[in-house]
Amino acid sequence: MNDRVALITGGARGIGRAIAARLSRDGADVLIADLDIDTARTTASEITAASSPAARVEAIGADCAEPGAVAGVIEAALVRFARLDIFIANAGITVNAVGPGLIATDLTRSLTEDPDASRSYLRQIPAGRFGTPDDVAGAVAFLVSPDAAWITGHLLVVDGGQTLGTPFPSSSS
Ligand SMILES: NC(=O)c1ccc[n+]([C@@H]2O[C@H](COP(=O)([O-])OP(=O)(O)OC[C@H]3O[C@@H](n4cnc5c(N)ncnc54)[C@H](O)[C@@H]3O)[C@@H](O)[C@H]2O)c1
Repeated sequence: MNDRVALITGGARGIGRAIAARLSRDGADVLIADLDIDTARTTASEITAASSPAARVEAIGADCAEPGAVAGVIEAALVRFARLDIFIANAGITVNAVGPGLIATDLTRSLTEDPDASRSYLRQIPAGRFGTPDDVAGAVAFLVSPDAAWITGHLLVVDGGQTLGTPFPSSSS
C-alpha cells in the first residue's frame, strides 16, 4: 500500500475506523471524512501514533449524505495528498462491496450487549461469534489489494456464515 492514498467516509468510528487503521498499517496515507469531526481528528491522531513514523492520517468534517459532499471530500483528498487511489464508501456508494453481518460496534451495542438478544443472534451465526470491525477491514484490504485486481462488481459477504441459513443448534440446546 506504500504511496497509495485512501479516502474513507465515516472513518471516525466502528468499521470505518478499523479500515482506516488497517490501510494505514499497510502503508497507505489516509483521509478520514466524517460527520463527527472531533472524533475523526482524535481517530486520525491515534492511528498516526500507532503507525510507522511515515504514516499520514488526516481528518475532514463532511456529511456524505449531502449532495456534492462526496465530490468535495474527493477534491480535499487531491488537494492534500495530490492523488487518490482508494475510495471506501463506508457511509454510502460502491464498485466492489463488502456486506458485513452483525459487527460489534456502537451501532449494534444494544443487541450485542443484551444477553437474550445476543444469544438468539449467535444461534444464527455458524462461526459462533459476532464480527469485529477488523473482520471487515481485512476483507476490504483484500478487495483493494493487487490480489483482487480481476474482481469487480462483487459483493463479498463477511458474516461468519449467517446468510448460509444453516440451522445451527445453540451449545445449550
Ligand atoms: N455494524 C454492523 O453490524 C453493520 C452491518 C452491515 C452494514 N453496516 C454499515 O457499515 C457502515 C459503518 O457501520 P458502523 O457499525 O461502523 O457504524 P458506527 O455508527 O459505529 O460508525 C459510523 C461512522 O460514520 C459516521 N457517519 C454517519 N453518517 C455519516 C455521514 N452522513 N457522513 C459522514 N460520516 C457519517 C459516524 O459519525 C461514525 O463515525 C454503515 O454504513 C452501516 O450501515 C454495519
